[in-house]
Amino acid sequence: MAEWTRAQRYQRYEDVDNETLENLQQQVNLSKYRQLFHIQPKTGLLNDPNGLIYYNGLYYISHQWFPLGPVHGLKYWYTYTSKDLVHFSPQGISLRPDTVSDSHGVYSGSAFVYKGELYYMYTANHRDEEWNRVSTQHIAKVHDDGSVEKFPEAVISHPPTGYTQHFRDPKVFIKDDTYYAIIGAQNELGQGRALQYRSQDIKHWEFLGEINTNLDAFGYMWECPDYFNIDGYDILLFCPQGVESDGEHFRNIYQSGYIMGQLDINHLKMNHGDFHELDYGFDFYAPQTFVDEFGRRILIGWMGLPDTTYPSDQDGWAHCLTLPRVLSVEGGNLKQRPIKDLEKLRTNKETALGYANKFTTKLHPYEGKQFELIIDVLENEATEIYFEVRTSKSQSTLIGYNTKSRKLTLDRTDSGYLPENVEGTTRTTTLDTDLSKLQLFVDTSSIEIFCNDGERVLTSRLFTDEDAVGIKTSTESGQAFLKFTKYDLKGEEDEKTISNRGSSN
Ligand code: FRU
Repeated sequence: MAEWTRAQRYQRYEDVDNETLENLQQQVNLSKYRQLFHIQPKTGLLNDPNGLIYYNGLYYISHQWFPLGPVHGLKYWYTYTSKDLVHFSPQGISLRPDTVSDSHGVYSGSAFVYKGELYYMYTANHRDEEWNRVSTQHIAKVHDDGSVEKFPEAVISHPPTGYTQHFRDPKVFIKDDTYYAIIGAQNELGQGRALQYRSQDIKHWEFLGEINTNLDAFGYMWECPDYFNIDGYDILLFCPQGVESDGEHFRNIYQSGYIMGQLDINHLKMNHGDFHELDYGFDFYAPQTFVDEFGRRILIGWMGLPDTTYPSDQDGWAHCLTLPRVLSVEGGNLKQRPIKDLEKLRTNKETALGYANKFTTKLHPYEGKQFELIIDVLENEATEIYFEVRTSKSQSTLIGYNTKSRKLTLDRTDSGYLPENVEGTTRTTTLDTDLSKLQLFVDTSSIEIFCNDGERVLTSRLFTDEDAVGIKTSTESGQAFLKFTKYDLKGEEDEKTISNRGSSN
């Protein structure tokens, strides 16, 4: 694909003629990789989820968006609302780069309620004439009709002394009636940090300091920090860039994970355990959390990574969001489960029960391109169990489980086209307990694998041929007694128009 020039990347959506947009839309609509039940960009590139919140009976879900192609360029916020986090109504652009401060992108941020009204706090990205980055933090009010009004001035106009312009992604949280914002940063030594601000009136923000952790030298930048408490456990989530891979850990270009413990907010001291990755697949980054209507903590991530080219790029679009996951802490461990409302997508239930061994391939009559598959491991005397999805004569996506080592491997060597600039074609995680259950969500071009009821998740894009629809099971040696429950999943009609271009602002 031809290189995108800087001028092309920073072209405004509003300045592009309709014919060009319609051609792009048509190209995207023809893509064989379009997803059925995931949020994806109608054209161009989607990245971080932004402004997630449940407010006045509706969920608001926005994402970073460069509309004009599958590259990181001039970023907008594109917004959906939802009643159930499963069906989404596109609302169009909510924040667009139309001021000097955000001339080079409205970057990531979060949503919060102040005096009963909805607001966004976000980073405005500006480049000066020498292309130096200038990052400021802003607030915008979301009106009842969905239009968004930016405050005239930045609420935080520069990074604190000792930090660089890598200063972005404010996540607002409220504790004891006080508003706090946690912001991703880099100090002048080139180390990633999370900075804490406080406000009583959301206009004036006082810098409190950086959150002290024992991860002083852990990457050169921390993007998209998030903080919350579940059942007395404080969790600090962030995306460190520049952490070296270490065995089965930190294999992606950038990492996304959390530390858990106790945060003393007055002294900004976090006592915590190890940094854990949130996801062990190939494509997961920049997640954000929020509280749903039932008080549960929900996480949505970006199913993609920066600095990587994807096979759908040639069709004029890239990436999608992950399915929403419910977070909980059980036995001191963070669990992630798919939200229950996803059951609404189920149709055509099929079940099967049987022994998998060295010779079995098809324990069950299933095929599928977009489905949920639950595998209960009822007995396991196999050395290694193999589950394959999206198989054809030449393609297969393999999940292997080694009984002795408890290592679970996702192998996409034969999955089809692969993204570029990705280390290796396998991802492995060692489970805490014996494999008892896998729950797979397979969409047209992705897989989300939940292991042992929330113990581990592996999320990946798959660029497999349309005719690769087989599902297979076997073992290396020995047998395993398995129960399969499979559902086809139904999606909504893809949005095929460019009608929301003019809305808001
Ligand atoms: C993370 C990120 C954020 C930034 C946004 C820009 O993927 O780099 O730090 O706000 O994307 O699109």
